[in-house]
Amino acid sequence: MDITSLHESNKFTWDLTALKYEQELEGEAEFLRNGGNSLKSCEQRLLHDLGAWCHRAIHLQCAGGVDTLSLWRQGAKEVVGVDISPRMIAVAKRKGEIVEAPAQWVVSDILNTPSELDGSADLVYTGCGAIYWMMDIQAWANVVARLLKPGGRFFLYEGHPLDWVWDTESETFQFDSEHGYYFAEKLSDKCWPRPYFESEETLAEVEPQVRAKQWTLGEVINSLLGAGLRLRHFDEYPEPFWNQFENIPTETQRRLPHSYTLYMEK
Ligand SMILES: C[S@@+](CC[C@H](N)C(=O)[O-])C[C@H]1O[C@@H](n2cnc3c(N)ncnc32)[C@H](O)[C@@H]1O
Repeated sequence: MDITSLHESNKFTWDLTALKYEQELEGEAEFLRNGGNSLKSCEQRLLHDLGAWCHRAIHLQCAGGVDTLSLWRQGAKEVVGVDISPRMIAVAKRKGEIVEAPAQWVVSDILNTPSELDGSADLVYTGCGAIYWMMDIQAWANVVARLLKPGGRFFLYEGHPLDWVWDTESETFQFDSEHGYYFAEKLSDKCWPRPYFESEETLAEVEPQVRAKQWTLGEVINSLLGAGLRLRHFDEYPEPFWNQFENIPTETQRRLPHSYTLYMEK
């Protein structure tokens, strides 16, 4: 399958999972209306006061928009969310209307993000389960670079690729028999949160087709450097953004990295 077809097949599956986001819409809108901010503490610390420098923030793979709207809460004057799933964007749009946010929402494959947005972002933001759905990491990094203004910043908070190698059922860190290779080339559905969505009625009759790619830290950083960005900050954290290892005690989990941040500049 070519890249467009792989992304289209992922779109079909993510559109089904939008049901979960629809069910959470009211609660998240209420959370935002009460001044809530869904960005993790390390994100809030590193992004700091966006009001001081960020007019437009573009969120790539925005899903239901709660993090996008939290960038507005963090001080961005306006936000743009881009996602391939029309149903996800419908949820995000409704959420934005409820909280009366200065927001635009775009249905698009990230690799085809409309050129009208080129050079318009002070901040491009993404993460929390985003980049492994990109089948061409250099094409993705080129999109990040073209959306940014000169001097604009790129921020990523993402699951650590080392997490892919571990067996998610085990009670200690053991290599997954299929995915236990950090430098694996093959596509998989490894980061598809299957148990989370499987009980949904819409999925009962459909076998979801998703294809994800485990990009190494080197591949991610080098793609962005190759697109002309400069590295300002890189850090790793013992906390996951999503706990995949429920049978492993927290103190054991914390011996390894489970998430990371990248802050770069055009
Ligand atoms: C795990 S979610 C990202 C989580 C998100 N950060 C949040 O705030 O909930 C992955 C998202 O990526 C989107 N996606 C997957 N492939 C995409 C593509 N090629 N272009 C645009 N969006 C894509 C999906 O529709 C889904 O909304």
